[in-house]
Amino acid sequence: MPKYGNKITMDVYGESHGECVGVVISGLPLGIKIDLDSLQAHTNRRKATNSSYSTKRIEPDKIVIKDGLSENGTVEKDKIELIVYNTAYRKNDYSNLSFTPRPSHADYPAMVKYGDKVSLSGGGKYSGRLTLPICIAGGIAEQILTQKGIFICSYLSEVAGIKGASYKDKIPTIQELSNAKANPFYFFKDNIEAVEKRFEKARLSRDSLGGIIETVIYGLPVGVGDSLFDGVESAISSAVFAIPAVKGVEFGIGFDFALLKGSTANDCYYYDNGMVKTYTNNNGGIVGGMTNGMPITLRTVVKPTPSIGIEQKTVDLRTKTNTTITINGRHDVCIAPRAAAPIESAVAFALLDIIMQEDAKGDTNE
Ligand SMILES: Cc1cc2nc3c(=O)[nH]c(=O)nc-3n(C[C@H](O)[C@H](O)[C@H](O)COP(=O)(O)O)c2cc1C
Repeated sequence: MPKYGNKITMDVYGESHGECVGVVISGLPLGIKIDLDSLQAHTNRRKATNSSYSTKRIEPDKIVIKDGLSENGTVEKDKIELIVYNTAYRKNDYSNLSFTPRPSHADYPAMVKYGDKVSLSGGGKYSGRLTLPICIAGGIAEQILTQKGIFICSYLSEVAGIKGASYKDKIPTIQELSNAKANPFYFFKDNIEAVEKRFEKARLSRDSLGGIIETVIYGLPVGVGDSLFDGVESAISSAVFAIPAVKGVEFGIGFDFALLKGSTANDCYYYDNGMVKTYTNNNGGIVGGMTNGMPITLRTVVKPTPSIGIEQKTVDLRTKTNTTITINGRHDVCIAPRAAAPIESAVAFALLDIIMQEDAKGDTNE
């Protein structure tokens, strides 16, 4: 089972076309109460919908308690387990893919690594469906962080080159971010028709599109994280790269730093009513792996959905010849809108894990 975390851990299991997907979470404080309705609502943000960008594989995605949680959401054991049954899979969609790997999907390395021991139906364990358990674990972590005054939101910032909002221009307020949790296209009020048209055009031409998710975190105290591998950037990016289709993460202005001089890149300090702040937030609230009290900001790029209906070049691994592939099945035209909740969840889990590790060590100045 792929596992993430130190003080708290999540073990994610299951396959897209298996009976269920699930997660075992270890190390949560005993006795805390999880709001199960809010957790379901959080997880539903990644759900397929009847929208123009989304797969037509639509299922209830109802969270079921397997172990360690009472019916009202109280954590009763060190290990808790939650699952979601898969209800709408169609293995036949994948029958022609057994020896002809889909470009850009996990098929080729997985076939070489595991041979016929691996199930790639629906993407198997490499499917975006495995982000559902990540949403469950991260949603729980986010509830605990909220009680500590920490607010996290990941939102769709750009899709297929059409820009919504970016913290690089202005960091959204908590109110705006809350609105974006309820409506994935909240920041596209002025150009929603252009977005819809682009989705529709891609869908009709059997192609797919990419996008950018931004994440903003308010409320972290100064000094969370530490040097090298203990850094907040290291922890967050390691968790975020677990989300399939994520191909890049930048903090603050990220790659734009290459264009600047130190004199314009540096975030200079000032006192604001006794609190140390920085005039700019180019470093995205993290220096030396530690939080500096400014909002944390990061951008994540989500690539276009690999499975497309256009004929593409691939190989036939049985005959060792070049061939072509045309992919059927139900696939997202654009993954990005559905990736916001999984990314937010990965970030929340990574942050809670760091905070709990540091609390356990008790080695800070506070
Ligand atoms: C929410 C979500 C939904 C996804 N849906 C699809 C899909 O419908 N079809 C597809 O080919 N890939 C889909 N993916 C992406 C693939 O799982 C991913 O590209 C593949 O495993 C290869 O991994 P990599 O892109 O991280 O290298 C989805 C990913 C996420 C996060």
